[in-house]
Amino acid sequence: MMYSLCTAVLGRSFIHPLFPIVVAVVVLDISSSMRYHVLGTGAIGCHFAVDLRSQHDVTLVLRSEKALQDFLSRQNEITYRRVNQPDETVRISGFDAMVAGDTSYNTHMDAVIVTTKAQHATEAVRSIKPHLSRSSTLVLFQNGMGVADELLEKLWPGPDRQEAPAIVIGVNRHSVMRTEPFDILHNAGWDKPTDGYFVSPSPEIGAEQGDQVQSVMQGMIGLARLNTKIVPWSTLSQFMMKKLVVNCGLNAATGILECSNGEYIASEQGCQLIRQICEECAQVLSPELDATPDELYDIVHGTAVDAAPNKCSTVQDIMAKRLTEIEYINGYIIRKAKERNIPVPTNTFFVLLLHAKEHQIHAK
Ligand SMILES: NC(=O)c1ccc[n+]([C@@H]2O[C@H](COP(=O)([O-])OP(=O)(O)OC[C@H]3O[C@@H](n4cnc5c(N)ncnc54)[C@H](OP(=O)(O)O)[C@@H]3O)[C@@H](O)[C@H]2O)c1
Repeated sequence: MMYSLCTAVLGRSFIHPLFPIVVAVVVLDISSSMRYHVLGTGAIGCHFAVDLRSQHDVTLVLRSEKALQDFLSRQNEITYRRVNQPDETVRISGFDAMVAGDTSYNTHMDAVIVTTKAQHATEAVRSIKPHLSRSSTLVLFQNGMGVADELLEKLWPGPDRQEAPAIVIGVNRHSVMRTEPFDILHNAGWDKPTDGYFVSPSPEIGAEQGDQVQSVMQGMIGLARLNTKIVPWSTLSQFMMKKLVVNCGLNAATGILECSNGEYIASEQGCQLIRQICEECAQVLSPELDATPDELYDIVHGTAVDAAPNKCSTVQDIMAKRLTEIEYINGYIIRKAKERNIPVPTNTFFVLLLHAKEHQIHAK
């Protein structure tokens, strides 16, 4: 069943080493109002929903009937706060909402923003597959790498690939926290040119899918809090690889130690482990990423210095007893290394130890 909700807005109206320069940002003015479905309404999903709603129709695809009841009990609102700016608190309604997998919903989904964690993306997309076709566009915003390939292989294998939606890949350089369901705190990402959301169509999209993909991406441009940029694939893939290496260098180790970035690099041993990870990553990713182990080390170490007090998402997941996204971070390197016949003992050790820790704390 679909719930059509009221449209009143309540409340007040109102050079990083990873991304040194944003080159060749593509801006075409062809946006018009459309309907977006947001699959995964945690921190990032609510962030998209709030801003897209100012120009588009938005349907939240919720995980369960319970989530739908929670949303209805909040008068169908999402609350947005910006850090240190209490005057910027807004409560926004006007969303439609449905439960993922609802068989009575019979609307085609043209544009879907997928904002689940990486390990949940395939099952989440499977639940909406009856609403998707080749004229749909999925925009993926998961941390790490490998989600797009996994989705296509598991949901549209072999000849079914002809029916697969177009895929847009996103890199997220916002920081948003879910303080309670449908209530988010935006910590960073709305103002700097090197922050925000970066999107690019996957190179595999069909020629006839180009226009739909452009419309979906353009609909996300110019919305103040999203700070979205469309970049060429070559730029985005380099962003992704470098971000992957940073995550490989810091996430598993700090997750196991439950420490901040700064605490990890305070020891010589921590820095040595980062070097070993960078050596393995440079070798495995050498066909795609033109960087020496020393250059990668400087990027990882520099990120840890800049964000010394921060505890990365893997630490936060472990502290909350949630399963981590490590299979899409160091796990991706291990899978690529296997294909390329390259030994990666340090990455392998970290993934095994982190999984052992998830098991020990009964992470779900
Ligand atoms: N938050 C940030 O600042 C940030 C920054 C950079 C990158 N990222 C990346 O962005 C992605 C999303 O992060 P997030 O912080 O928004 O995570 P999150 O707050 O945990 O939100 C994920 C949402 O997906 C929902 N979900 C899971 N399985 C689903 C399914 N089968 N059907 C429908 N919904 C489903 C979850 O439901 P429940 O509510 O039931 O759990 C949750 O609401 C992650 O890959 C993360 O690493 C986040």
